[in-house]
Amino acid sequence: MARLDVTEMFNGISFPGHLHTQESLELALKFPFLDTDILIVSYPKSGTTWMQEMVSLISSRGDPHLIQTVPNWARAPWLEQYYCAAVLETSSTVPRVITTHLPHHLLGPALQGSRAKVIYVSRNPKDVVVSFYHFHKMANFLPDAGTFTEFLNRFLEGTLCFGSWFDHIKGWTSQTATVNNLLHITYEEMLLDLHGAIKRVSSFLQCPLVDEEVNNCVQHCSFSTMKNNKMVNYTMVPDDIMDHSKGSFMRKGKTGDWKNMFTEEQNQYFESTFKSKMQDCTLEFVWEVQ
Ligand code: A3P
Repeated sequence: MARLDVTEMFNGISFPGHLHTQESLELALKFPFLDTDILIVSYPKSGTTWMQEMVSLISSRGDPHLIQTVPNWARAPWLEQYYCAAVLETSSTVPRVITTHLPHHLLGPALQGSRAKVIYVSRNPKDVVVSFYHFHKMANFLPDAGTFTEFLNRFLEGTLCFGSWFDHIKGWTSQTATVNNLLHITYEEMLLDLHGAIKRVSSFLQCPLVDEEVNNCVQHCSFSTMKNNKMVNYTMVPDDIMDHSKGSFMRKGKTGDWKNMFTEEQNQYFESTFKSKMQDCTLEFVWEVQ
């Protein structure tokens, strides 16, 4: 059997080789977006799955049938993964919901001129790196995580799979000033006020919901409900791909877990790298909201 943790290098970024091929990545960059498409964009571990669930529920007006019967990757496939074209071909759902982890400098040209609605989800990068580290331990398709110090260094250098978090956030959020079909929402915002976040996303998608529908969405995309929904908690993935004895995808679902992991020295190194890499970024982030 082929090793699972082989990576595919593409435009200087490595991608897990069991789901990405040169061809699937090339195809993504030329993807013919429809104006009706909804594109969920994120760096891994920023709340991607949560947003997929939210958008599916909003489109179903809070009815959980879809999210309880169709896996997230089949109702909101990742554009750059090899099965995406086949999923989209067999689906007649409008709007199509598509997910991507690609950075803006790669996917931007394909979106140019399109009126597809883009939802960018970001999260405190300290919590992203901790969540990603734990995920590497259970995901056999990702390279060995090494020690947390080594992993953190690779995150800050931008050499982990999916590339630099800094390039990702700067590339996508710099579009918000000029593109009005892009909504930037944070994991922290969703955790602090899920009800408000659902209303914000539904109004952006021009799919206004009545209170009861919003309440149903809240109930079905809460952490505890999603943790028990096998269509979204990845427990259907076989152990050779995700070793469920080493962790769970729906791990903690909290903010501030980095405080349990970072040493004072690591925090200082993170802060100084963050400062220098983000100095050209004018956005204010709300990540420290607990
Ligand atoms: P943790 O590992 O910190 O628990 P992604 O989907 O982008 O890979 O992100 C996964 C992270 O989002 C995991 O974080 C996961 O637990 C968290 N998550 C998923 N659904 C959530 C929900 N409904 N509420 C809060 N966190 C959620």
